[in-house]
Amino acid sequence: MKSQVIGYYSTPFGELWNKSLFDLTTEAVMGVLKNSDLEKNQIDAVFFGNMLGGILENNLHAGAKIADLLDISMPIFRVEGACASGGMAFHLAHSYITSGKGKTVLVVGAEKMTDVNTDQIIQGLMSAASGEEQECGLTFPGLYALMAREYLRKYSYTREHLASVSVKNHTHAALNPLAQFKNQITIENVLTSSSVADPLGVLDCSPVSDGASAVVITSDSNLMKKHKGITILATEIATDSISLLRRDSLTEIRATQEAASKAFSTAHIAPQDISIAEVHDCFSIAELLAMEDLGFWKKGEAGKQALQFESQREKGMLTVNTSGGLKAAGHPVGATGVKQIGEVYLQLTHQAGARQIKCDNTTFGLTHNVGGSGGTAVVSLFGV
Ligand code: COA
Repeated sequence: MKSQVIGYYSTPFGELWNKSLFDLTTEAVMGVLKNSDLEKNQIDAVFFGNMLGGILENNLHAGAKIADLLDISMPIFRVEGACASGGMAFHLAHSYITSGKGKTVLVVGAEKMTDVNTDQIIQGLMSAASGEEQECGLTFPGLYALMAREYLRKYSYTREHLASVSVKNHTHAALNPLAQFKNQITIENVLTSSSVADPLGVLDCSPVSDGASAVVITSDSNLMKKHKGITILATEIATDSISLLRRDSLTEIRATQEAASKAFSTAHIAPQDISIAEVHDCFSIAELLAMEDLGFWKKGEAGKQALQFESQREKGMLTVNTSGGLKAAGHPVGATGVKQIGEVYLQLTHQAGARQIKCDNTTFGLTHNVGGSGGTAVVSLFGV
């Protein structure tokens, strides 16, 4: 059954101190309805991606709260898969449509992270790691630093290779009015930024952010005729051990490889067909691993390609993270996976403004959303 993304709205990402989780959620829902020219009663269900509301704000039973806020009564599902919550919400919303339960479904991802201090947010995020990783005091920067150390050792790369990912993504974010950081940075800035978990400095890390994003998916042929939409070719989820200890390799994320391989096979296209991708760069090393695991670059080559800025706009055949990625656009975890899909929607429908890349009828897009250190991965593919 053909289904399309026909509308998108996002709040800015950043420290939005005057807005609560549900203010952000309401803004995104009302914004996407307006952008899609839809009334609330045209929506059959809502899928809400959120990770931390229960832990940081004692805010669960979000479905009923959203129903109250928006004065709606259709089914509302809260979906939690750590930083992949938004991507998983999208995947489930798509399954809801293909199962025939509904025709037009709204996906909203939201997170409010900046009302607590860094220690509290790091502890909250670590609820998505294994018990042993929590008990020995590891953090997500620490877990990704272990992967980075092994990647640099194995392929004789240096911190410059990691840093080039952040430089590219800040360059892209400078063109995104909704991005948390719009400043361009240099490799030297990354290398001299405060160390967080060696070899990762502050500028190798995505920030702590607030924000909400929403998309509308439909299989209604009248709505598809009326709107400029993008077709969902595939959306796949795979899981792996939650703990790094139980992985065969620290330099690949098996869940990404499996989700990508299933998605490409469902869509009957190959990595070489993709021109635009939003890839999960929670830390600089994460984008390098993703580029290899998704099949864009050969194993061990991502460091070299990244230092040549091969995936920067107006450079090669494939542009990665035109939004600025998690690194520079910001990473309100539940919203990220939805924003990634929204960015590909904007690009493929020529609505990306100053950061628009060249797209035509044969352009394909990919989004890649990861939970934790790779325990969950969602890969979705789109065409026009
Ligand atoms: N990139 C760029 N600048 C950043 C930044 C980042 N990742 N994080 C913070 N800053 C800036 C802030 O904007 C602030 O700038 P200002 O002084 O001009 O206002 C300054 O650095 C200090 O900010 P602060 O909030 O005190 O930073 P911090 O040291 O408490 O936190 C990190 C920095 C990197 C530890 C934190 O952003 C972090 O934990 N990131 C990872 C989040 C994460 O794990 N997400 C899940 C992924 S799986």
